Amino acid sequence: MHITANEIKEMKLRAEKIVMLTAYDYSTAKLVDEAGVPLILVGDSLGMVLLGYESTIPVTMDEMIHHTKAVTKGAKQGMVIGDMPFMTYHTGTSDTLRNAARFIQEGGAQAVKLEGGTVVAETVRRIVDCGIPVMGHIGLTPQSIHQLGGHKVQGKTPDAAERLLGDARALEQAGVFAIVLELVPAPLSKLITEKVSIPTIGIGAGPDCDGQVQVISDLLGMFADFVPKHAKQYAKLAGTIRTAITDYMAEVKSGSFPTAEHSSTIDDSLLEELARS
Ligand code: KIV
Repeated sequence: MHITANEIKEMKLRAEKIVMLTAYDYSTAKLVDEAGVPLILVGDSLGMVLLGYESTIPVTMDEMIHHTKAVTKGAKQGMVIGDMPFMTYHTGTSDTLRNAARFIQEGGAQAVKLEGGTVVAETVRRIVDCGIPVMGHIGLTPQSIHQLGGHKVQGKTPDAAERLLGDARALEQAGVFAIVLELVPAPLSKLITEKVSIPTIGIGAGPDCDGQVQVISDLLGMFADFVPKHAKQYAKLAGTIRTAITDYMAEVKSGSFPTAEHSSTIDDSLLEELARS
């Protein structure tokens, strides 16, 4: 049985910090799940870190379902959350519900996440009414990057801060089980966390959220070129992978790989017969 939305909400009541990580494939999801991470997000960040897009905007439903299927095969306990891509929840109720349902029915996810506050509250309510748990996402919402003008910290003016608190409250009223706060000033995240009854999960939002989320590729140090300010590298896999590839190339070129250990044989007599033919 997977962790439920109610169990996640209870963690806030117990003041137990909630850990969330992204995963995009079977093997990684299995490792994340076996480590006991309760929330596993198939983020549309996969567009940038796996598919090489410049933003999350080109990501399609089919791409998300493809990766969600792989993640749900690997995750047996954690709640898998499918990230609804750009414009898949804005073009009418039936499109929205069909797309949310695809994550659950085809992808095997237990919940969906979508970006936005007050403006998507009614949409959230409709999905929740169908029995699908929804996670909100406010602050920097990468699908609105062209409107926001870049990856900037949100909620810095009195109006913007008030709007963010209003968005959190609207999502809470609409029935989300948790809200991601992305690039929100730490004191404002703390205030929002105190004002809502549901867990807040921060990324670049300070230490006082109820939980934290990181993009797994950032955490593992897969990208040497760019490390976001809010990310901490717990490993430097890019270097490890480069070394492994270079060593492999050198061994193939020198003939020291493969050895007998990596090969199989057949009967000498069979070989002799074949050679005579
Ligand atoms: O797509 C994603 O990985 C996300 C997280 C950064 C919360 O939305």
